[in-house]
Amino acid sequence: MLELRKVRRSGSSGPERAQGICLPFILLLLMFTPSVDSSWWYIGALGARVICDNIPGLVNKQRQLCQRHPDLMQSIGEGAKEWIHECQHQFQHHRWNCSTLERDHTVFGRVMLRSSREAAFVYAISSAGVVYALTRACSLGELKSCGCDTHKRGRAHDELGDFDWGGCSDNVNYGIKFAKAFVDARERMVKDARALMNLHNNRCGRMAVKRFMKLECKCHGVSGSCALRTCWLAMSDFRRTGDYLRKKYNMAVEVTMNQDGTGFMAAGRNFKGTTKNELVYVENSPDYCLMDRTAGSLGTAGRVCNKSSKGMDGCEVMCCGRGYDTTRVKRVTKCECRFKWCCSVECQDCEDTVDVHTCKPHKRPDWLDLT
Ligand SMILES: *[C@@H]1O[C@H](CO)[C@@H](O)[C@H](O)[C@H]1NC(C)=O
Ligand SMILES: *[C@@H]1O[C@H](CO)[C@@H](O)[C@H](O)[C@H]1NC(C)=O
Repeated sequence: MLELRKVRRSGSSGPERAQGICLPFILLLLMFTPSVDSSWWYIGALGARVICDNIPGLVNKQRQLCQRHPDLMQSIGEGAKEWIHECQHQFQHHRWNCSTLERDHTVFGRVMLRSSREAAFVYAISSAGVVYALTRACSLGELKSCGCDTHKRGRAHDELGDFDWGGCSDNVNYGIKFAKAFVDARERMVKDARALMNLHNNRCGRMAVKRFMKLECKCHGVSGSCALRTCWLAMSDFRRTGDYLRKKYNMAVEVTMNQDGTGFMAAGRNFKGTTKNELVYVENSPDYCLMDRTAGSLGTAGRVCNKSSKGMDGCEVMCCGRGYDTTRVKRVTKCECRFKWCCSVECQDCEDTVDVHTCKPHKRPDWLDLT
């Protein structure tokens, strides 16, 4: 998980001499290591004090928005913890499990350099997370620049009949508008396949939140007769968006750029229909089986797997056929619970042992396999 840390200004400490020797090396390293862009995602790790100049990886447009709306950045930062958590929930039983790197400005590391399905998901859920966090903050009255949706006034009707708009309707369009300006700013600066892919998936994420807006109502009238209703539009739980985007991840469409580089088309000839509401990716995913620093894959050695499952969390799939180790662990659970008059439940602590299976590491170091 992310930690709260202050970003240190570079060159603020360290022995002078060491710096003198290291600098050329560092510059060389920077020149020959393909750069992993840091991202606004890192705002989530900064905690309570968002200082726009100190956030690495914001492009100019984002820095300006940050300076103009520090309160929105606060919400975006808090939201980041939530969507990262949702991503980890959705992928907890997968080889790639959405893990973050501590104190790393890129947040997810080099895996995101590849234009894979996983990258598609992360871009979508992150921009959905911004919409969600901002919209909620608007409704809670935490932000200067927005509030409840003022367009929802007067009379309206649904399948159950007439109702009056009342309460506070979530202003999702404000969230979408700001998320689009802020999140898309980096991708708008370049025109390549990856930028197009990110923009498309960002949009899918934003729309996913809007899709699950629901009407909530309160009944008035004689003894709950519901002759009169007051209703407002509210966002559903973010889990709905997470589940939806996870399904979209499963169905994601591989695309290639069209000839003039202004758009893309499905790579498979069999794909019928439109990619408009689908997640899209350009490159196949690695298998994420082995630790591979250049690809940012952590590998699955040591991951817990389920011996009786045939799915992604099964030991066969999770461990990529390398086999698994079994350890017996003692587990304490509540048991023999009794209802005690009145009104509590008393339980005993029971101990049992369970087998925990974890994936074996790769047999030999990678460099031995090169021969
Ligand atoms: C995710 O995977 C990494 C590396 O394989 C592992 O260290 C981490 O514990 C996993 N996280 C969860 C929640 O399983
Ligand atoms: C393991 O997988 C089986 C079959 O899918 C499932 O019934 C069981 O609940 C799983 N066990 C755990 C601990 O997740």
